Amino acid sequence: MTAVAPTLFKTRPAPPEYGRSADHAQRKALYERFANRLVVRPELTRRLVSYQGNKQQPGFRWMRYKEGFSADLVASNLESADGAVLDPFAGIGTTALVAAGSGRRATAVEIMPVGVRTARAVSSIAGGVGSSAVEAAGAELLRSLKSGGSPPDACRFPHVPITEHAFPSETEYAVARARAFLDGVKDEEMRLVLDTACMSVLEEVSYTRKDGQYLRWDNRSRRTLRGGMNKGPIPSLEEALERRLAEIAVDAPELRRRYGGGSPRFVQGSALIEMAKLPSSSIGLTVTSPPYANRYDYTRTYALELAWLGYDRDDFRDLRQALISATVENRSKEEQLDSGYPRQDILGKAKSAFRAQAALAEAVEALQRQRSDLSNPHVIRLVANYFLEMAVVIAELFRLTAPGGRVVMVNDNVQYHGQEIPVDLILSDIAETCGFECEEISVLARGKGNASQQMGRFGRRELRKCVYHWVKPEG
Ligand SMILES: C[S@@+](CC[C@H](N)C(=O)[O-])C[C@H]1O[C@@H](n2cnc3c(N)ncnc32)[C@H](O)[C@@H]1O
Repeated sequence: MTAVAPTLFKTRPAPPEYGRSADHAQRKALYERFANRLVVRPELTRRLVSYQGNKQQPGFRWMRYKEGFSADLVASNLESADGAVLDPFAGIGTTALVAAGSGRRATAVEIMPVGVRTARAVSSIAGGVGSSAVEAAGAELLRSLKSGGSPPDACRFPHVPITEHAFPSETEYAVARARAFLDGVKDEEMRLVLDTACMSVLEEVSYTRKDGQYLRWDNRSRRTLRGGMNKGPIPSLEEALERRLAEIAVDAPELRRRYGGGSPRFVQGSALIEMAKLPSSSIGLTVTSPPYANRYDYTRTYALELAWLGYDRDDFRDLRQALISATVENRSKEEQLDSGYPRQDILGKAKSAFRAQAALAEAVEALQRQRSDLSNPHVIRLVANYFLEMAVVIAELFRLTAPGGRVVMVNDNVQYHGQEIPVDLILSDIAETCGFECEEISVLARGKGNASQQMGRFGRRELRKCVYHWVKPEG
């Protein structure tokens, strides 16, 4: 079985311009080693590898999980290997739902409760939780929003400092009424579905908008803002919820048809803990997309949803630290791994592969030389920690994958202070050190432009967006 379709003429991405400087010698050598496995695939559109492709998809369109990839991407890779399917960075469960719907055993690990909740709600509807019962309970929920009188204080939205003043005051009341109503729903699956419906419209009814690294704020909120924006008309909770409940009702039959047969396993936890618990050679195919090394902080962009789920300030801090290091706030997890990782042999293998990665060492050293110039010097530890943690993930993936099995991974390259970090090549090299064969790095025809501040200073550089295909050799 091949994961990638054979092509007669292979188009290569434009090689990076390293010039003659010795500063890039290792990155240049690594590029040359992988050059004939970098293939531009015009059929691999941005729509396919991003949430765009899920915007109209039943179930996946409920929660605007912008970090997701499309159900079509999963479906198009499903036949590339037999056996159980894994996604250790599952988001809203796209991989596991699609795989289980096709009759495969599927496991999804995801650290953000927002994603796991949504995936479980989609799965419940696909599994047949009574549509008419959901419609009736939804209608009751909507009626409860109209009722006068103030809801009990205990039901108020449990704000944390970064969410204060997120809602217009009438919405603040409506949210509390919704929480009071949900408290009274006895059936757990029903409460999960209705709770997820409410959680999924929080952004829409608020003064905020998720915008990559940040939560952007509308000028009408009571926060003191610099560079706020105008979101345009903001619907009431009732309006937004009514639309979402209607969507759930419309999607239910199709979800049952597509994903109804399966029962994916959703595990809420860190891949750096949960993967170690899975048995060796138990997975045929992994389709995943880890966080990108791009400073995006999910605990900021999903602050409203996390607060809705009852996360307090300490929970936010702990969750941020447990995420794969992709922000300047993340501290090293090495000590913790050294003392607590249950599979020290895998950790040792990951560390050797990480330390042997000369292009990464070169990029980190170059950033260290530029330290005083960096807008935030913690990007240096971000880069180093990201790859150490990803090396552990890759070493675990190799242990878990059955011979002949495959890993399909979506990721973006990044650049800091003019230093290109070829994430695709570094991770694929680590994968090969761990024992995988990198069959192909499929490249999107259009990459991602670098950030505008970087562009002004270091010129325009298109960063590759890729899908890696790694195979575990037979025997
Ligand atoms: C690029 S997104 C993947 C989204 C997914 N493909 C989907 O379709 O929804 C990366 C995911 O990794 C999760 N993540 C970050 N650190 C993690 C960790 N230590 N363990 C498990 N998941 C983690 C993030 O919460 C995020 O949902």
